[in-house]
Parts: sequence; C-alpha cells; structure tokens
Amino acid sequence: MRRKNDPLLKMLKKRWYFLFFPLLILASVAYSASLANSNKSGYVPITVQDSTDRERSLKLFGEVAAVLRHPRCINCHPSDDYPRQGDEMRRHMFNVQRGNHGKGVIGMKCISCHGASNNLASGVPGAPEPDDPLKSRWHLAPLSMGWIGLNDAQLGKRLLDKEQNGNMSPQDLVEHMEEDPLVLWGWDPGEGREPIPIPHDEFVEILKEWVATGAQVPTEDKEPKK
Ligand code: HEC
Ligand code: HEC
Repeated sequence: MRRKNDPLLKMLKKRWYFLFFPLLILASVAYSASLANSNKSGYVPITVQDSTDRERSLKLFGEVAAVLRHPRCINCHPSDDYPRQGDEMRRHMFNVQRGNHGKGVIGMKCISCHGASNNLASGVPGAPEPDDPLKSRWHLAPLSMGWIGLNDAQLGKRLLDKEQNGNMSPQDLVEHMEEDPLVLWGWDPGEGREPIPIPHDEFVEILKEWVATGAQVPTEDKEPKK
C-alpha cells in the first residue's frame, strides 16, 4: 500500500490527466506505424516469409488472372467506355456506353435490357442485386477496375490498389469473388455462352491460398508487355 503522502500519488491525484499519457503514446505509435505502412497510391505491398511462399503465390495469381481475363469477366471490365460481347470481346451492339456509374446513357440503360436473371426467351444475360432477387444489378465495372490490355503485373497492382478497387483488402476481394452476383453469373451465363472453365469453389480455394501466401503479384520489370 502507498502511504498517504506518497509524492507520486499526490501528483497523480492533482494532475489526473497524466493518466492519458500512456494512451497518447500508444496512439502516436499506432499512427506512425500506419504512416509507414501506407503510401500515396494506396497500394500496400505485402511481405512474405520465404521465397517458396512467393513462388507459390505468384503461380496462384497466374490462375486468378486467367479467370479475370476470361471474356465472361473482362467484357464488363473494359479500360474504356464500351462493354464487350462474346468470346471475341467485340464492342457491345447498339453502341451501348458506360454512362453514369456504369449504368448506361439515357435511353440505353443496362437495366432496360438486362434483368435480374438470364432471360431464356431473348438470351439477354442478367443478374440480381444481392439483397433483392428481383432487382437487376447489371452494370459496367468502374474505369479504375478496367483490366483490358493490362499485363499480369499491371492487373495485379490494380487489383490490390485500394484507391482503384473500391477500398477492398485482399480478403474483401476474395469475398467479392465468392459472393457477388455479377461474378457468380460467370459460372451461369445462359445459353450459348461459355462459362468460366474451372469450378467456382475451386477458384475460391485458389483465391484463398493466394491471399494466405501473401497475395503476391509479379513486378513490372519481370513481366514484358503482352
Ligand atoms: C455485368 C458486369 C460484370 C461482370 C459480368 C463481372 N463484373 Fe466484376 N465488377 C462489376 C462491377 C459493376 C464492379 C464494381 C462493384 C461495386 O462497386 O459494387 C465489379 C467489381 C469487381 C471486382 C472488385 C475489385 C476490382 O478491382 O475490380 C472484382 C475482383 C471483380 N469484379 C471480379 C469479377 C470476376 C472474377 C468476374 C467474372 C467471373 C466479374 N467480375 C464479372 C461488373 C461486372
Ligand atoms: C438495348 C438493349 C441493351 C442494352 C441497353 C444493354 N445491353 Fe448488354 N446485351 C444486350 C443483349 C441482347 C446481349 C446479348 C447479346 C448476345 O449474346 O449475342 C447483351 C450482352 C451483354 C454482355 C455480354 C456478356 C458476354 O460475356 O458475352 C455484356 C457484358 C453486356 N451486355 C453489358 C452491358 C452493359 C454494362 C450495359 C449498360 C452499360 C448494357 N449491356 C446495355 C442488350 C443490351
């Protein structure tokens, strides 16, 4: 027990705000750590323990990239204002364009043709909002998520950049590709369109292992432009 006239106790009693010092120190340490971890672009490189992890992760990314580049995905992820169609990725018919928030221009809104599910009669593809099975979610991915023309290094960097990917962590990306109806549509694209060749649950396993091994992507200089 401290005696009543313990000088430290007296001081603490008088200056109760000393109690906040440890908190202040903790907060400033956390703040500087967060500064050190971030950089301007929002792209946070992840460190891995050993080179085998990195090699494995890079190999897995190759498989991820092959899916992202599949026409069922990339037709909606162009680097310009035009959605694509078909396996040869031709420009969308009727000169359909991005418009506001990727939803099409007036008179040519995506949802005036694309419903909440594939239309068996007309062959027009569709997909629902996650929280409303009757509402169409069909729209173009934002320009910052455009992938057409990118090599693996550029694709990987863009995918992991929180300022371009909708502020998603690698785990968020896995979740998105596990659940988003527009992604799932790639495995159920309707008559006459090739689905993504590998099963969806296998793709999710690949994504999870890619993240577990450090979500590695190739560096620019090792990846010649295709
Ligand atoms: C009908 C159009 C459409 C199709 C088809 C589509 N996407 Fe997307 N995608 C979007 C839109 C729109 C967003 C943005 C979602 C948001 O902001 O809520 C998006 C976002 C994403 C993201 C978020 C992060 C980022 O950087 O892009 C990933 C990952 C993604 N899509 C993967 C896929 C994959 C994999 C497929 C194919 C299996 C696919 N998408 C098919 C429209 C589409
Ligand atoms: C006037 C009607 C119409 C409008 C508006 C429209 N689409 Fe389409 N879209 C179609 C039809 C019809 C098809 C199927 C064509 C086919 O399979 O030959 C199609 C196919 C697609 C495909 C092809 C999928 C694939 O992998 O082959 C994508 C992607 C697509 N539309 C995106 C969009 C987006 C994004 C918008 C809005 C910015 C939009 N569409 C607006 C009628 C429309």
